[in-house]
Amino acid sequence: MWLLILFVVIGLFGSESFVEANFTTNCTIVAKGNLKFPKKFSFGVATSAYQIEGGWNADGKGISTWDEFTHNYPEKIKDGSNGDSAAESYRLFELDLQALKQLGVKHYRFSIAWTRIFPTGDIHLKNQKGIDYYNMVINKLLANKIEPMVTMYHWDLPVGIQKFGGFFNSMIIDQFSDYAEELFKLFGDRVKTWITFNEPNNICKSGYAPTLIEAPGVGDYICFTNVLKAHGATYRLYQKKFAKKQKGKIGITLDIWFVFSKTNNTDDVARAMHYNLGLLAYPIFSKSGDFPPIVLKEIEKSSIEEGRKKSRLPSLGEYWTKIIQGSGDFLGINYYTSRYVKPATEPMGKNPSMERDINVQMDFDPNWPRAKADWLYCVPQGLEGLLKYIRDEYDNVEVKITENGWVDSGELNDDNRIRYYKSHIQAVLNAINDGCNVTSYSAWSLIDNFEWLKGYTEKFGLYYVNMKSNKKGRIPKKSALYYKKVIATRSVPNDV
Ligand code: NOJ
Repeated sequence: MWLLILFVVIGLFGSESFVEANFTTNCTIVAKGNLKFPKKFSFGVATSAYQIEGGWNADGKGISTWDEFTHNYPEKIKDGSNGDSAAESYRLFELDLQALKQLGVKHYRFSIAWTRIFPTGDIHLKNQKGIDYYNMVINKLLANKIEPMVTMYHWDLPVGIQKFGGFFNSMIIDQFSDYAEELFKLFGDRVKTWITFNEPNNICKSGYAPTLIEAPGVGDYICFTNVLKAHGATYRLYQKKFAKKQKGKIGITLDIWFVFSKTNNTDDVARAMHYNLGLLAYPIFSKSGDFPPIVLKEIEKSSIEEGRKKSRLPSLGEYWTKIIQGSGDFLGINYYTSRYVKPATEPMGKNPSMERDINVQMDFDPNWPRAKADWLYCVPQGLEGLLKYIRDEYDNVEVKITENGWVDSGELNDDNRIRYYKSHIQAVLNAINDGCNVTSYSAWSLIDNFEWLKGYTEKFGLYYVNMKSNKKGRIPKKSALYYKKVIATRSVPNDV
């Protein structure tokens, strides 16, 4: 019935009006406990290199999988665009800095383009101009009392590394940790917060080279194990060679939709969470290490039933289980939305895949206001639920929210984005009041940018950027001014 009403409303007024109609009542959460964030809590914003920098071949930069993919398959990007120029942060970092200062952020999460520093991916060939660029960024941030939070890998793999098979080849473990070691040497005297990988889930399914993945339920699991090993190896390397002197923290950023059960079935929720978060979080942050027992058992069982000799999920083995277990000083979380889950009545798809292994149906609530992207609903209670889940399941590990944000068409008067931020920041505060160890929050994103397969048709920025102009000025949206107030007051102002 609700679905029917939903379709009628969308049909009559268009999806934007539908969103407006429900927002004020349904994108909210009740405040519980203290009304102010702790003094040490850090508010910031996030971006990634390919999405904002442009300068795709400037000053000796090498080619990444995303340069190649967007150039070879423009038809796969909604508006046929690419990140060749994007917001031109390579040329115009000063404008980003002005915006960061205006907001008053305490940290800035950005990523390093591997190919800007090592054009082929291999560390024997260094590009000084790329190094100069990131030195300039880091130094200017610090001069303005903004802590750099650096993601080492946000999907733009050097094609030179992809030629060896990228994340399907265990060579990536050394290739990545060698690259990371160079980053520690170059920038570790000033960068104290490192994120090895952004959203391995997306890296392994489609994120770093959407045309290359052809083995669901097999290739994605091989990729997961290689990401975990590369992460673990990098963490150990830092502890051995740099930690004492540099005193930084290393974590990984995982993306997760929280899940609820309409029938309050805790088993359904636990299973879905063990697959969706646990596959990557459990080996690093659980007390026992390795993949969650239920995941190991179920995938092995279906693999044998499929006529295989062993599990499609490669074993980590004793050596790597130990390296990986405990290899995180914090867990980075990208939270955008949630779903309802229930067990699938029939197997999901004919062929083996991660979806079929998980075997749950995902659903949304028609009362949840939807963004311009069809996957993004405003569900702040999901963020509070997720943080409490992590507190209980992973021994209250330190959590940094490394992304959270709302997508629209780029309007300056973006009240819905304000409502989204307001309710989600309140959800974080509620979780902290309930004992969750959350130490920072990064809004996605500082500026409008290249949204991967959606090109420039979907905008997440607090600042508007006219991609067609040469000046590319950063214009604050209404939400930027709201976020500025959040930061200044360490509270959740009631503006909308
Ligand atoms: C997560 C990714 O890290 C980021 O690159 C992307 O733009 C946002 N999700 C929004 O889809």
